[in-house]
Amino acid sequence: MRIGVIGAGHIGGTAAKLFAEAGHEVAVANSRGPSSLGGLVASLGPKARALSPGEAVKFGEVVLLAIPWRRKEELPAGELFAGKVVIDAMNPYSATGGIIDLGKATSSEEVAKMTPKARLVKAFNTMGWKTLETGSRPSDLLQDRLAIFIAGDDGEAKAVVAKLIEGIGFAPIDTGSLREGGRRQEPGSPIYGRPLTARQAREIVR
Ligand SMILES: NC(=O)c1ccc[n+]([C@@H]2O[C@H](COP(=O)([O-])OP(=O)(O)OC[C@H]3O[C@@H](n4cnc5c(N)ncnc54)[C@H](OP(=O)(O)O)[C@@H]3O)[C@@H](O)[C@H]2O)c1
Repeated sequence: MRIGVIGAGHIGGTAAKLFAEAGHEVAVANSRGPSSLGGLVASLGPKARALSPGEAVKFGEVVLLAIPWRRKEELPAGELFAGKVVIDAMNPYSATGGIIDLGKATSSEEVAKMTPKARLVKAFNTMGWKTLETGSRPSDLLQDRLAIFIAGDDGEAKAVVAKLIEGIGFAPIDTGSLREGGRRQEPGSPIYGRPLTARQAREIVR
């Protein structure tokens, strides 16, 4: 698939590497511009390129959002995301690392308001980037692989993301709707920040 990755830091850069290794075409974008991403693109290989955020959204059939939550207002205009499978990996931390109180809303519901026509899936939120970098086990059975949780209201979009996750050597585990499933993935939840196999993850989610 063609995957646009907005935010080429710890999570975005690591996911881009896994996607490129799995054979996908990847476009990475950051706030400083494509010329600052030469080193990353070279390390990702011939299937990768650097683009502006807007171009990376246009490029992607799937778009991964991996910028700091506090900068989400800087994302490309919402209509550019229309019809695309958009993965929201952002967690609502402030600049000082505190969890931002969103009241009854979940962070991905806030992202959904900004991208109303996107096919939004919350994923890649609970796993630290180091675990993502080192935890891929493509030759293991799904139940023995580390879990990457997905949540959302669009079943087909979730299936696309689940397939991508399997393709990079992890196991997708569905936590439910964008609201309730999203809440289950928030900072402080029992699955947050814990490397869990799919078997363990299913027990906890159940
Ligand atoms: N780190 C983790 O283990 C982890 C795990 C799960 C989820 N997350 C979430 O993933 C997101 C990114 O975290 P991170 O640790 O990867 O952060 P990071 O290493 O600081 O990287 C952030 C990236 O976002 C880019 N960026 C910032 N503002 C942007 C904008 N307006 N447009 C385009 N790109 C922009 C930065 O580019 P410049 O450097 O050019 O500004 C940088 O490439 C956060 O929301 C975080 O909560 C992180």
